[in-house]
Amino acid sequence: MCGIVGYVGRRRLVPVVLGGLKRLEYRGYDSAGIVYLQDGKLTKFRSEGKLQNLENIMEDALGASSHIGLGHTRWATHGAPTTENAHPHSDCTGELVVVHNGIIENYHSLRNELLEKGHKFASETDTEVLVHLIEDYLEDDLQEAVTKALARVEGSYALGVLWSGMPDTLIAARNHCPLVLGIHEEEGGFMASDIPPLLPYTDQVVFLDDKELAVLQADNYAVYSLETGEQIEKEVKTIAWNAAMAEKGGYKHFMLKEIYEQPQAIIDTVSGRINPETGSVTLPEMNLSDEDLTGIDRIFLVACGTSWHAALVAKYWIERWAGIPVEVDIASEFRYRKLLINERVLTVAISQSGETADTLAGIRLAKELGSKIVTICNVVGSTMTREAHGTVYTHAGPEIGVASTKAFTSQLAALFLFTLFLAEKRGTMDAKTRLELGKELISLATVIEKVLPVLQDEIKELIENYYDSRDFLFVGRGLNFPIALEGALKLKEISYIHAEGYASGELKHGPIALIDKDMPILGITPRDAVYQKSISNVEEIKARQGRLILIGTKGDDHLKTITDDVLYLPEVHEELNPILYTIPAQLLSYEIASRRGCDVDQPRNLAKSVTVE
Ligand code: F6R
Repeated sequence: MCGIVGYVGRRRLVPVVLGGLKRLEYRGYDSAGIVYLQDGKLTKFRSEGKLQNLENIMEDALGASSHIGLGHTRWATHGAPTTENAHPHSDCTGELVVVHNGIIENYHSLRNELLEKGHKFASETDTEVLVHLIEDYLEDDLQEAVTKALARVEGSYALGVLWSGMPDTLIAARNHCPLVLGIHEEEGGFMASDIPPLLPYTDQVVFLDDKELAVLQADNYAVYSLETGEQIEKEVKTIAWNAAMAEKGGYKHFMLKEIYEQPQAIIDTVSGRINPETGSVTLPEMNLSDEDLTGIDRIFLVACGTSWHAALVAKYWIERWAGIPVEVDIASEFRYRKLLINERVLTVAISQSGETADTLAGIRLAKELGSKIVTICNVVGSTMTREAHGTVYTHAGPEIGVASTKAFTSQLAALFLFTLFLAEKRGTMDAKTRLELGKELISLATVIEKVLPVLQDEIKELIENYYDSRDFLFVGRGLNFPIALEGALKLKEISYIHAEGYASGELKHGPIALIDKDMPILGITPRDAVYQKSISNVEEIKARQGRLILIGTKGDDHLKTITDDVLYLPEVHEELNPILYTIPAQLLSYEIASRRGCDVDQPRNLAKSVTVE
């Protein structure tokens, strides 16, 4: 979704804002713009497409001596991704500019009202309404004008505002879209949609909450309630990530780097949380009492996309080991159905960003109905972690590639820990089993580390026969059915090949009609409790001449009698197979997309953090 960067301070503006926007590229965008104030005059640059286009038209402005301004990457919602619709948007005088992430729901009526008053519109965007509305209220106090304008607005926004009449001040405001301030005594004041743009300059951040407005100057900031107008004391948080963590570090793509970072991400997520002697699990930010955890009789897991696949795996784990019935919901469905939720239900939101609009709306609803909320999240201080009663942090570090990889396997590791934690609290698992499973989880990172380079080489060779396919099926059973869904999602996201995931046993209820000699199918067939069933399913595919790739357990020679294309993985505890079997599915998608010359890190039409409905 749209990215915002704002800066006021001693540094030259353009490199700070342009660099910041580059660090937000992963959010997805289709046009971009920058505005700065110099000698009392606002100068604006906007272009369609990638940031490189913006940089090209700014060649003469790169060294401009301005020290205050705003930048924006736009992911089109209202109006095509054209230069005219790109942000920043200006008022009628050209002395006031706004950048915006979100959707102004009542923009039609506001626009008509403003048109009647004589305002001139230059774009098709909902955002432009905001700048004219602020202009309408502006006399000599920008904070007051923004507050009055936002009181009229229905919808979501993260907002950056600059006015030539207050040349040392930026205004930021938020409602249902992420916005974080970065502060540093010498470097100045920053605002951004996410943390990476701030990392080169400061690790001190202030997360704005809904209906808050910030006044930002080089050496000062203050936050106010948009509802009461009163000043709010905000907590300053220290971010543990550093700038290098958001760089490619020699890899061709962020996605590949992040695939290789998975062993570390799993270790960081698990370490210190399992007692190696007793298998006892500690989750420091859980904040729920033992009574809260023993008193629940149902769990709802709510998430979107890849995080939803993590939830599907967790359902198997929690029901099996903690004995609690689990419902799994796609957040955009959850929020609009009749929810049978009360105080005996625990709702767990799974979201790497902690900002996904549908998931956030879902937990707000569940909370209103009396449910306790836990979030599994990768971003410290994100909105969901602030609104949930408890959090289990994944420690995957920043994930820049739009297609989620290390955040997913870290979610699985965290959900497995959460399962052991619940089982311990509810007395549904003996200490010996807990210890055994805990140790298996810890040693899984080493297994993945060893297998990664070998798999990548094998897959690179293998995909020569598959990379130009038009369709792909992924099949798996039990714990690996969600991994088939995840593999298919990864492939379609980054390579644009049409791909579907199915439970293997479901094939003969319809999808088997698709199978012929041209259809590639990746079958996940580890030696597990449903091995024989999975083998029967892939034999059915073979009988219809499907082009099979199998992923199975090292030493299982039978697979070679079914197809020549077999990828072998070491045997681990079968409960942990979903984490291990994700790795070849990710690498296959990556290598195919890379071979097809696709923009792996920023696939078309996708946004990293989906902050609108
Ligand atoms: C796919 C992917 C998305 C996200 C989804 C939810 O690779 O990354 O499907 O999983 O948009 O995002 P979060 O986890 O931030 O709520």
